Amino acid sequence: MKPLFITLEGTEGVGKTSNLAYIKQLLDEAKINYIVTREPGGTPLGEALRGMLLSHDYKGMSSDTELLLMFAARAEHVAQVIKPALAKGQWVLCDRFTDATFAYQGGGRQLDMQRIADLENWVLGKLRPDLTLLLDCPLEVARARADNRSTPDRFEQEKDAFFNRVRDVYLQRAKVDPNRIKVIDASLELAKVQEQIKAVLGKDL
Ligand code: TMP
Repeated sequence: MKPLFITLEGTEGVGKTSNLAYIKQLLDEAKINYIVTREPGGTPLGEALRGMLLSHDYKGMSSDTELLLMFAARAEHVAQVIKPALAKGQWVLCDRFTDATFAYQGGGRQLDMQRIADLENWVLGKLRPDLTLLLDCPLEVARARADNRSTPDRFEQEKDAFFNRVRDVYLQRAKVDPNRIKVIDASLELAKVQEQIKAVLGKDL
C-alpha cells in the first residue's frame, strides 16, 4: 500500500496533542510503519525557525517575513524528512502543514491567498497531504482549553477576531476539498472525538 501523508490541523486549544496520541495508537495497532513530525519544525533548522516564529523577541515581525519563514522551515522539512520517509514507504503524520499557512497567514494575517498558493507550488511541487484531519470547535471552547496552559506564544496572544478568521479559512478549505480534509467536531468529549477520528482513519488502516 502507498504510504499516506496525514496532517492534523485546527486552531489553538482544539485538543491536537491528545488526539495526535490517539492517532499514533491507531497506527500502532494497525502495525503501520510511520514517523511523527510537526510544523513549523521537524528538522534542526526548522525547530530553530519555530523558536523565532513563536518568540516574543520578534513581536513586530512583518507578516511577509512570517510567511517566508514558515515556508523556509517547510522546504527543509519536505526535503530532509517528509519526502525521504514517504520514499522509504513510511507513513508521515504531521502536526500542522500548509493548510495552517492558508489559515493563519492567509486568514489570520490576511495575506494574499494567491501568494501562499504560489509558494505552496514552488516549495512542495506536487506533494500534498493525502488526508487532513481538521479538529474544529467554536472559539470559546478552544479558548477555555488554551487558557489553562502556560504563557501564550506570539500566535496564542492574538485576538478573537484573528482566530475566527483562522477557523473560517480552515472550514472553507474543508468545504472546497472534502475528500482530503475531514472535519472532526472537537467540541465533544474526547471519546466522541476519537470515535470520529477512528471512523475516518479506519478506512485506510
Ligand atoms: P503548534 O504549537 O500548534 O504546533 O503551532 C505553532 C503555531 O504556529 C500555531 O499558533 C500556528 C502557527 N502556524 C502558522 O501560523 N502557520 C503555519 O504554517 C504553521 C505550520 C503554524
